[in-house]
Formats: sequence, structure tokens, C-alpha cells
Amino acid sequence: MKVTIDGQSIEVEPGTTILQAARMIGGEVVPPAMCYYSKLKGSGGKCRCCLVEVSKGSEADPRPMPKLMASCVTGCMDGMEVNSKSSERVTEARKSVTEFLLINHPLDCPVCDQAGECDLQNLSFEHGKSQTRYIEEKRTFEPEDIGPNIQLHMNRCILCQRCVQVADQLTDDRVHGVMDRGDHANISTCISKAIDNEFSGNMIDVCPVGALTDKTFRFKSRVWFSKPYNAHRDCDKCCGKTTVWMFGDEIQRVTGRKDEYHEVEEFICNGCRFDHKDVNDWTIEGPRAFEKDSVINQNKYNHKLEKVVINTEEKILAGREEDRKKISMAEFPLDTNNQKS
Ligand code: SF4
Ligand code: FES
Repeated sequence: MKVTIDGQSIEVEPGTTILQAARMIGGEVVPPAMCYYSKLKGSGGKCRCCLVEVSKGSEADPRPMPKLMASCVTGCMDGMEVNSKSSERVTEARKSVTEFLLINHPLDCPVCDQAGECDLQNLSFEHGKSQTRYIEEKRTFEPEDIGPNIQLHMNRCILCQRCVQVADQLTDDRVHGVMDRGDHANISTCISKAIDNEFSGNMIDVCPVGALTDKTFRFKSRVWFSKPYNAHRDCDKCCGKTTVWMFGDEIQRVTGRKDEYHEVEEFICNGCRFDHKDVNDWTIEGPRAFEKDSVINQNKYNHKLEKVVINTEEKILAGREEDRKKISMAEFPLDTNNQKS
């Protein structure tokens, strides 16, 4: 089947969705996705970030689809023509979806551990407004303890339900889900049961915002101050292939290896994620290949290192030189394919 997105055509298998076809083409035509996750069955169709305009339904029925379609759950038809980034209607819709998502989302990026690798932050950067039109109070929830490893911050949740699908599909006992409805809807463990099964940590990796973060890494560092290396170890529970995030010689956190769409290549177990923070536990393979442009990329090995001179008091700058060495990956050659000008 042939499908054309923003003027670029590609042959796809029957059953391919528009979003998958766009990812096969790559680049700017790929719609943003906050709830679809290719490794989780049944994901997608919840956030509406991935809306596209179908200007021609198919060769057999060329009528345009009147409404914008969620590309992650709409299948391709032979001869279909789709407008994504090129459509003003789509851009307007993405702006509106972003505005809706931000209605109840706290603007606490300066203290949120997800900042720098947050899909909502990236979405807002491209489609967000600098001012809100919302005058009502934001929805808030009482803090809830969901166990020793994972921090739930319900106020930041956008109800994408990826974490519920991880719990459903990767773990034996699902002990949490979406409670209540409408603007009362929230992720809860029902009676605060701890999520203590071996693969529960993957919820942190799939959460597109800072609603589920790693308690063992909490407030330790901003993600762009840590150096991501691909590493592996022999593990009898999972593939053992991870990204370790280091500051100097210290491993501050361990995550799954993510691709350019922020999806993990393979899910990892809690043992690898939370209990192995010693460098000797890992064989370091080399720096993680960077995904699409993000704040984590800044000042890393794929950029030219330029010393920034800050005009301020000496005491404020104390230790800066030492920290600079701890976050530098200068030992690796520049990745000129990814070089920013
Ligand atoms: S906690 Fe995160 S992964 Fe779970 S529904 Fe909310 S935003 Fe999605
Ligand atoms: S990614 Fe398609 S609706 Fe969320």
C-alpha cells in the first residue's frame, strides 16, 4: 500500500497506522505522541497529540476525512494522503491539545526530575503558549506513597495510561489503574499497595511526564548534568542492557535504552535499575546514541564544547571547574553527523 505524508510517499504493509508510516519516513512529518508506545499493546488514542489531516481517504474512496484523525490509531489505506506538519489546521489542533494538557499540569519544571527529557516540555516548547487562559484552580491530589522505588506525583499526570499498560503487560499482579472519571480521574494503587514486582520500574521509563520518577535518583541532579552511557551486565531476569547516567565516576541512575521517540528498546528489571549503581557491576559500552534534539544533548559529546564565561561572584563559581570535568564527555570524538552549528 502506498501512503503519502506531507508529500513524501512510502510503501507500507496493511495494518500499518499513519503514525507508524510517518516514523518510517522520519523527520518532521512524525506527529508527537504522548500516549502511544510501540512496545505496549493497546496504547494510543488517549492524548490526541498525534492528530493529522487526511486529505484523501484512499485510491478507492478519495474523499477527505472531515475530522482530524489520531494518527496512532488510524490505519493506512492504499493511496491515502495525509497532512501532518504541513497543515495549519493540524498545527492549530496540536496547540489546542497542548493547552488542554497544560490546564492541570503544574509548571514546576525547575524542580521536576523529568525536566530535560519530558515529552510535555518538548511539546510545549513547540506548540505551547507563554500565557494561560485558564482562571480556575488547577486540579490537585494528595501525595500518595506507592513504594520505595517509584515516586508518584499525580498532579503532573496526563492520564496517558502507559504505566497501567506496563503493569498489565509486564508484571504478574496489576495493583494500580485509573480510578474515578472526568477531572477526578487519577492513577492510584487502590489502598496504596506497594508496587513491588520485578518490572514495575519500567513505568518510570514509559511515563512521558514527571508523574512517575525514580526515587533513588530524586533531586540528585538535572538530567543534562549526567553522562549517559550504554552499559550491560549479565542478568537472569532481563536483557541487562541499559543506559547508566553518570556524574564523574558515580552512577546516579539506570534506565532502559531509549530510541529517538523516547521508547525503550527493551524493558529492564528492577534489580538492574535500582540495585546496581556500582560502576564495577557494568560493562560500559560507550556513550548513548542521542535521540532527537533535546536539552540532554546540550554540551555533550555531539556538540562542540565551548567554555561559557559567567560574570558573577567568585564564590558562586566555586567548584564549577570540577563539575565541568565530571559532566564532560570530551574523551569521545565529536559525532559530526549530529553536530549542531
Ligand atoms: S502516571 Fe505517567 S505513565 Fe501513568 S498515566 Fe500518568 S502520565 Fe501516563
Ligand atoms: S499518541 Fe495518538 S492519541 Fe496519543
